[in-house]
Amino acid sequence: MRRYLVAGNWKLNMGPAAGRELAAAVGERLRGRTLHGDVLVCPPFVTIPAVATVAQGDPVLLGAQNCAAHEQGAFTGEVAPGMLKEAGVQYVIIGHSERRQYYGETDDDFAAKIELVHAQGMKAIFCYGELLADRKGGRAEDVVRAQLKGVLPRLQSPNAYNLVLAYEPVWAIGTGETATPEIAQQMHAFSRELVSGMLGAEVAANMRILYGGSCKPGNARELIGLPDVDGGLIGGAALKAEDFVGIVDGAEAVLG
Ligand code: PGA
Repeated sequence: MRRYLVAGNWKLNMGPAAGRELAAAVGERLRGRTLHGDVLVCPPFVTIPAVATVAQGDPVLLGAQNCAAHEQGAFTGEVAPGMLKEAGVQYVIIGHSERRQYYGETDDDFAAKIELVHAQGMKAIFCYGELLADRKGGRAEDVVRAQLKGVLPRLQSPNAYNLVLAYEPVWAIGTGETATPEIAQQMHAFSRELVSGMLGAEVAANMRILYGGSCKPGNARELIGLPDVDGGLIGGAALKAEDFVGIVDGAEAVLG
């Protein structure tokens, strides 16, 4: 039985003061409850220490949205995986479509970053998903296959414990448009099949594959309840404690 993960990707929102408040509000709503899955918030780097004071496994886990592909050196503006670990981070999002699109990150970057995240004993959430043009052109599966093939087989010790996948169709991110349950289930099952081919059937059976793209309280149950969906990577709806916890409630309702 896979444990669900509901992860909030705050993106470029929430400075230290607002972030501490949001994390505290989420924590307050969840504290004392028996959760059957994991809840994670991923603030901007500068907000991580403030959030760490209120959310460190109590019951909210702490994550980062990105990291450097190096541990140290002359890399102006970067933040090393080891620094994140020291700050209390347990999960790092790698390969988000916005990193691909706006910062030109490639499979080489993702593989290097995930290796360093693993070397620090942290878990990586690796994101992938097709563009609207890919889907319209009937290439969604080809794109997803290439994205997973470009990274997973290159990792030294990927397993269901240190790696989480997040299927995020780019046309559904921040657009209010969600994948239909049919599309989501089909792409998740397809992803799991690919993981099985690359990393083995047992890893595939245990690997958590999150759905991301306009997930909100109103559709969380339906999406997270799909057989091959193991939680959500939440953008916009993670910025309001009530909405974010509403999604956790949805996950509890179907997987709790
Ligand atoms: P969204 O973002 O929930 O705002 O669509 C999801 C993501 O980009 O991870």
